[in-house]
Amino acid sequence: MRLAGKKALMIGAATGIGRAAAIQFADNGADIVIADINRPAAEETVASLAKTGRHASAIACDVREEASVRDAVAAAESRMNGIDTLVFFAGLQRLGHAEQFSAADWDAVFDVNARGTFLATKYAAPAIRKAGGGSIITTSSLAGLRGAPGMTGYAAAKGAVIAYTVALAQELAPDNIRVNSVLPGWIDTPFNNPAIALMGGVEAHGEVVKRIVPLGRQGTPDEVAPIYVFLASEESRYITAKQMMVDGGMAH
Ligand SMILES: NC(=O)c1ccc[n+]([C@@H]2O[C@H](COP(=O)([O-])OP(=O)(O)OC[C@H]3O[C@@H](n4cnc5c(N)ncnc54)[C@H](O)[C@@H]3O)[C@@H](O)[C@H]2O)c1
Repeated sequence: MRLAGKKALMIGAATGIGRAAAIQFADNGADIVIADINRPAAEETVASLAKTGRHASAIACDVREEASVRDAVAAAESRMNGIDTLVFFAGLQRLGHAEQFSAADWDAVFDVNARGTFLATKYAAPAIRKAGGGSIITTSSLAGLRGAPGMTGYAAAKGAVIAYTVALAQELAPDNIRVNSVLPGWIDTPFNNPAIALMGGVEAHGEVVKRIVPLGRQGTPDEVAPIYVFLASEESRYITAKQMMVDGGMAH
């Protein structure tokens, strides 16, 4: 029960890494509201949490729409009687080498990953301040630090998330609000299917993973979720403005 009494708004937690984190948050005693563009999947995740006895509910939210983000924060605050934790997972990947990449795809990856992170934190920060402080956790990617061929637009957007997180951490520290970013490496979710196709298919991708990941395999969402639990918990109360890599040792 490392999150007993916490009230978390989890944006983009309907599937994948966010879903695994939502389950671990509820198992650790947090109330949660999942806000996601995929409302049916968000409802399904919430239904699987009924046994925890904590508040768990879903809201439709498109992080590309400012009003939608603002309304999701207000709804979560009213449903849980406050918010002290914001976790942002929503992500979009568009692939292609820079010379072939369209400006529309560039805007699309920035809209969801970078601008979405900005909007969510902009509206959630006052609520967390009102609660006396808390934790904001953004989701970047190892690509946001290291880049990768075919991922220039996505890498740039995830790099923006890192820089934004570090700047925001300094702005909000006086209010006892910590802001950190999680940087997953290769994690086994359908999110990567287009990247795996670009790399030549599952077998070719598997060979690359074996070569570049010291632990020799992809991670699972369940293996990334605990870092979010830690960053939301009081155990991490002296940790802010950090990039937490969960990558099987890929960055070394
Ligand atoms: N899987 C990986 O290997 C990996 C690696 C590095 C970073 N990440 C990042 O982790 C996060 C989660 O990825 P995942 O692998 O769990 O994939 P996922 O597709 O399961 O999760 C993305 C979630 O964001 C939601 N979403 C997408 N667009 C949205 C929008 N406009 N408004 C609201 N919600 C929206 C989706 O419905 C989904 O629930 C993403 O930010 C991704 O960039 C993933």
